[in-house]
Amino acid sequence: MAQYSRVSGTVGLITLLNPPVNALSAAVRQGIVDMMDKALSDRKVKSVVICGHNGKFCGGADIREFSSPLTGPLLIPVIQGVESAAKPVVAAIEGVALGGGLELALGCHYRIAHSKARLGLPEVHLGLLPGAGGSQRLPRLIGVPAALDIITTGRHVTAAEALKLGLVDRVTDRNTVDEAVKFALSVADQSPQSRRISTFPCPHHPDLDAVFEGVMQRVRQRARGALAPVACVQAVAAATLPFAQGMERERELMATLFTSGQARAQQYHFFAQRAVGRWSMPSGARWDKTKPVAVHKAMVIGLGTMGRGISVALVQAGVSVVAMETNEKQLMDAKQAISSMLERGAKRRGVAPALDKIRYSSDMQPAADVDLVIEAVFEDMALKKKVFQQLSALCKPGTFLCSNTSGLDVDQLASETRTPELVVGMHFFAPAHVMKLLEVVYGSRSSPQAVATAMELGKQMGKVSVAVGNCRGFVGNRMLKPYLEQAFFLLEEGATPEFVDQVLEEFGFAMGVFRMSDLSGLDVGWRVRKADGLPDGHSARIRQGCRYSPLGDLLCEQGRFGQKTGRGWYQYDKPGGQVAKPDPWLQDFLEKFRTQHGLVARRIDHQEVLERCLYALMNEGFRILEDGIAAGPEDIDVIYVLGYSWPPHRGGPMFYAAMVGLKKVLERLEHYHQEHPDIPSLKPCNLLRKLVVSGSPPVQKWREFLQKPQSQL
Ligand code: CAA
Ligand code: NAI
Repeated sequence: MAQYSRVSGTVGLITLLNPPVNALSAAVRQGIVDMMDKALSDRKVKSVVICGHNGKFCGGADIREFSSPLTGPLLIPVIQGVESAAKPVVAAIEGVALGGGLELALGCHYRIAHSKARLGLPEVHLGLLPGAGGSQRLPRLIGVPAALDIITTGRHVTAAEALKLGLVDRVTDRNTVDEAVKFALSVADQSPQSRRISTFPCPHHPDLDAVFEGVMQRVRQRARGALAPVACVQAVAAATLPFAQGMERERELMATLFTSGQARAQQYHFFAQRAVGRWSMPSGARWDKTKPVAVHKAMVIGLGTMGRGISVALVQAGVSVVAMETNEKQLMDAKQAISSMLERGAKRRGVAPALDKIRYSSDMQPAADVDLVIEAVFEDMALKKKVFQQLSALCKPGTFLCSNTSGLDVDQLASETRTPELVVGMHFFAPAHVMKLLEVVYGSRSSPQAVATAMELGKQMGKVSVAVGNCRGFVGNRMLKPYLEQAFFLLEEGATPEFVDQVLEEFGFAMGVFRMSDLSGLDVGWRVRKADGLPDGHSARIRQGCRYSPLGDLLCEQGRFGQKTGRGWYQYDKPGGQVAKPDPWLQDFLEKFRTQHGLVARRIDHQEVLERCLYALMNEGFRILEDGIAAGPEDIDVIYVLGYSWPPHRGGPMFYAAMVGLKKVLERLEHYHQEHPDIPSLKPCNLLRKLVVSGSPPVQKWREFLQKPQSQL
């Protein structure tokens, strides 16, 4: 809805009213039309201000409406109505002006923003483009290059940058609505004719063709198969045409995107990211019934790859940090690395680096005085247990004890302490100050408050926190295991690393499994596999009665650890090199391996690579749901998109399973399991069968088929 009042005698004030973000629902759009009519027909009113209720201008179109037939007036004519008004209209932008919200502001004749406001056209993240004139008005106002940047990245622009770009006319630290009203009084007598952006020519640029070509190339590369970023560039290109023609092109492009599966996937992901915040535990404890404890001071133990990133993310979230490391050289290196990460981060955000928020230690003593500890030492249970014993003896009552383990048993760590209820996993992803995902792992004795505190701290650090149960590898790494396994088996059967990677990258992963494995280091998994015991004596290809591929182990035995040694699944020009080249040595090695094990290479096609890798991964996802380790498909999907580079335009593995069709996934798994009965991860899980028997309900309904979540260990 929208409210109307007359203020300061001659200013019509229209307030968008649709909490929490004043999204442009049908009622709000109708409200704008009605209130504009009122303001324009009120003879006492000389100018108009549009603002949003409760300090937020507008979060854009109401995304929830996209899944049902649109009702009420369309946004394009609503904005045209505002722009063509005979009285000057001023947008008072507080909080956010995003998507349709910014498009509405662009339809106004003037824009006044609060200094803390953020503006942007994030439609690209929803699989769309700014389809209410945004792709046509923004380039006319601020020029093609700047508009392309804002529209194709969907990034939020600060008020200061918006002023510099000419996107807003004035920025204020005071009450924005009051300032906008004053401004509206000052322009009341001026004709809005010259302020209608749709009448502006697109600003001249000496070589627009080159600009579009360069941006298109970059965008295609980054898009990983997503349609929306490309369509955004095409829409902005149409801004060089007369406005009506440009709008027609925008409409055509939007029509294709709007009904696409990609848009559905990305909109699902938007809501899934928010749904995971509403966590629950097997005990019935929930997000809305548990109060987190404020964390002012934290300690990070172990300053390797992860500890450094975690320390930076904590400091940037305003938490005081004691960073602790036993290895003297590591400590020195870490100090330097953390300072420079903090400096770079501060520069990017235009603030001073909070170097005084962190201090370093080579012993555990400071643990006595912190609210929360995050342990990030080597992935070694005996070592971690020792650290938890020490912490338990040192910490003050109430200190939360967290581990960044990537998959070890949180309950075992908890049992080393006097306060198992205060122990949770906080599984960050590398680089920890950049990656948005945090898995918060609750053990069988973790208290709701410990979970709530870790979830809230993650949020404070700018992460999307997902609460998951305790099992080997939690959610993300547990699902990764069958995926990697299939990739290895495919090599044994005749595929090459290049081919498998190419198929997965064409699907949309940032990196195929072998390139990724070379980047993270083959030795990491090797150490874990060795700790689990070597294959059965009688065959290197059988482990615990099931098929096992020793390929990764054999490469490690040759000292091929990936990029760090210059050799892995690929070859690199030097240790630490990043450009992967196919390695003839590997071809030779694979051929010898096959001969030795009586395997005959066969032709493996694109479809088999995708189905075996992805369906095995999804099947594990169904098992995770069945076991109650993840509360719902959204949790798994958010983990995969934010932590494992699953392409957002494919929603996540569980959403993708529903898109492909659960019946088809089941049939193909049955087919592959029949061909490979010694690979249990290909055996379709019961939940998948149950869902198919129940008519393959949409992913949003799967929770109805799940038992209450419980810890598996
Ligand atoms: N439509 C519907 N619901 C929305 C919404 C929107 N545009 N924006 C936010 N919400 C909902 C969220 O789902 C959430 O509700 P639930 O918790 O029930 O899921 C609630 O509002 C609060 O949102 P956040 O938790 O995200 O709140 P925040 O304060 O952290 O962030 C925000 C606020 C920056 C506006 C963020 O919500 C956001 O980025 N919203 C989406 C903005 C966007 O993409 N707009 C473009 C829409 S498409 C469009 O406009 C196309 C067009 O022109 C045709
Ligand atoms: P790393 O090897 O880079 O760093 C570990 C650090 O811990 C080293 O600097 C080591 O000197 C230090 N350390 C060892 N014992 C210590 C002790 N008793 N007290 C203080 N410091 C000690 O390891 P990395 O990669 O940072 O991993 C750390 C943890 O994070 C592991 O549990 C790992 O599984 C997990 N993890 C790693 C990810 C990655 O991508 N590297 C991703 C997510 C989790």
